[in-house]
Amino acid sequence: MEMLKNHSAFARLNHPGPLGHPSRGGELSNPPCPDIAIVPAAPAHLPGLAEIAAAAPDPWSESGLAAALRADNQLLLAALQNGAPVGFACFLHVADTADLQQIVLVPALRGQGVGEGLLRRGLSLMQAAGATRCLLEVRCGNAPARRLYQKLGFAVLATRPGMYQNPAEDGLLMAVNL
Ligand SMILES: CC(C)(COP(=O)(O)OP(=O)(O)OC[C@H]1O[C@@H](n2cnc3c(N)ncnc32)[C@H](O)[C@@H]1OP(=O)(O)O)[C@@H](O)C(=O)NCCC(=O)NCCS
Repeated sequence: MEMLKNHSAFARLNHPGPLGHPSRGGELSNPPCPDIAIVPAAPAHLPGLAEIAAAAPDPWSESGLAAALRADNQLLLAALQNGAPVGFACFLHVADTADLQQIVLVPALRGQGVGEGLLRRGLSLMQAAGATRCLLEVRCGNAPARRLYQKLGFAVLATRPGMYQNPAEDGLLMAVNL
């Protein structure tokens, strides 16, 4: 674990600043919309991200976000509009496998390519960090998310009966090779 902390790509990816490649540090290039930036999340973004996470269909706590920010094997990407958080995506990386743990956009900005931009950027960074596939779980009835994942090449591997609560719903396990 110490080696992972000191040497994994995540130790660099999770923190803004020079990361060895211009497109991986600080403010990342090619945002999905002209006024949206996709950046590695910083502690200053946590309160805004926590509001977005709390309002998501399957909410996350601010402490969960803070833990993701600190962890060497998690990548927390923020979408910013004029510097204010409007969405995020969180990935976990274990061995050769990445896991999309959460992706959420504020309702007002959905349907404008920002979620796709976050996901594409995260998958690219996971691949650069050595992941060869990405997994995720999604509610069966979450059509927008399922369409997004299918657009980026994810396919259903299995169903997870009764996986979700509030409301109760089956889940789908999806995967893409990177
Ligand atoms: C899922 C989510 C992150 C998608 O982000 P988004 O920015 O709205 O999506 P984008 O605008 O980037 O859309 C990209 C693709 O997703 C699909 N998509 C997005 N919204 C859709 C909708 N309302 N209906 C159908 N397909 C949709 C389309 O394939 C779209 O590509 P296209 O525009 O070329 O057709 C966003 O809807 C969200 O925050 N939902 C609530 C949280 C959530 O459910 N997260 C997923 C947990 S598993």
